[in-house]
This record gives sequence, C-alpha cells and structure tokens, in this order.
Amino acid sequence: MVDLHCHILPGIDDGSPDMETSLEMAQIAVADGIDTVVATPHASSTNPLSPSEIRAATQAFNEALRQQQIDLVVLPGAEVEAQLQMVELLRGKQLITIGDRGRHLLIETPFVGIPQFLEQICFELQIAGITPVLAHPERSELARQQPEVLQKLAERGCRLQVNADSVLGRAGRDAKRLAVSLLRTGQAQILASDAHDAHYRPPRLSSARNKLERAVKDINFQMLTDRVPRSIIDSPKESHK
Ligand SMILES: [Fe+2]
Repeated sequence: MVDLHCHILPGIDDGSPDMETSLEMAQIAVADGIDTVVATPHASSTNPLSPSEIRAATQAFNEALRQQQIDLVVLPGAEVEAQLQMVELLRGKQLITIGDRGRHLLIETPFVGIPQFLEQICFELQIAGITPVLAHPERSELARQQPEVLQKLAERGCRLQVNADSVLGRAGRDAKRLAVSLLRTGQAQILASDAHDAHYRPPRLSSARNKLERAVKDINFQMLTDRVPRSIIDSPKESHK
C-alpha cells in the first residue's frame, strides 16, 4: 500500500517530534503492509517550510531507514494550507507537490470558510495543470454543512482523500458519516493515515478495512490504498516553468 498523507518526518511540524518516533512509525507502516509513504508536513504561513528543506529532511530520513534496515520508501511532499496565489507560489517553486512530481498538490481542506474560495483555488490549479487533492474533507465543518461543494469539486476532477481514522470514528460521528458517504459514492478515491505519531495517530490503513467492507458493499480497498495513490506518485514529472 501507499500512504499518501503522513507526518512522519522528525521535528519539522506537529507530527513526529524526533527520529526515534519517526523510525517507530516507519516500522508500524511496514508491518501494516505499506511500502511507500509520502511525507506531508504542514506547509503554511505559520510553518513556512520550503521545498528544499522538505527534500533534505526526506533524504536524511531515507538514509536513517536504510541504516536501520527498514524497508520503506519515503517521498517528499507537503500538506499545503489553502490560500489564493497557489499557482504563483508553485511557479516560484515555493510549494512542493506530492512526491515532487509537479502534478498533484495535497491541500489542507479549510475547516470553515466560504466554498467559493476553495472552488477558485482548485480551478486555478487545474488550469495550471495541477490536480488538487483535498486532505480529509470529512473533518471540515464547511464540507459537512455543504457536501454539494465536494461533489462539485470531485465531478470537476479534484481528488478527495479520506483519513483511515475517520472511517473508524476517531474524528467523531459526523466525520465518520461523511467519510463513509464520500467513499460509497466514489467521490473520495484515496484512503490515507494522516499519521502524526506512533500511538494516538499511527500510520495504519488496514484497520479501516473491515469497517469499510461492512459499511460499503463492493468497496475496493486496494484501489483506495494502492492503485490510486500509486498512480499519483508514479505520475510523469512536470516542471511547471
Ligand atoms: Fe495532515
């Protein structure tokens, strides 16, 4: 499996605080059947991480994994704060895309706000050749109150990523309901961990499998956790000059 959203890099955001935790997270991911993780630290105005910092941290972590003989590949990425001028920031090489392929951008779904803002951001990115991937929209108050916004975005080609934790009810009943509904209708096509540590929010995907298979007849778990995320990290590289 591929975990497309994971705060596994040590000491870079509110995820893993240190190398020991990061290595423990990596072992949990491998034991769960995950072979590739996209490191997605928060990149925002309050935590302005540059792509070069993220690339360097990812490289250092892969080196530590090799030294510990942990068979996991970590790719660079970020969970980017939703903001206008994203296309300009991308062109200025101030934002990093998923797997650094220049094709898909993981955007933190605003918790509250106006849907037009989100629609405009996604539309502008698509015009520039970038596919927006909305991180855990099921946790957003905005999306729960106006689910038609997500439907519209999904129909226009945005990707929606649901958290495995949300399916398990760990983000509350409303988030669980929307998560299952987004997966049932096919609007969400990616399941990721959004792991922040080794204990409370660990990088596991398989724990959601039983629950999902009971809740949604004909759900294709392999598609959500492998085929779609792998197609994203395997996209041909684009430089967006
Ligand atoms: Fe996250």
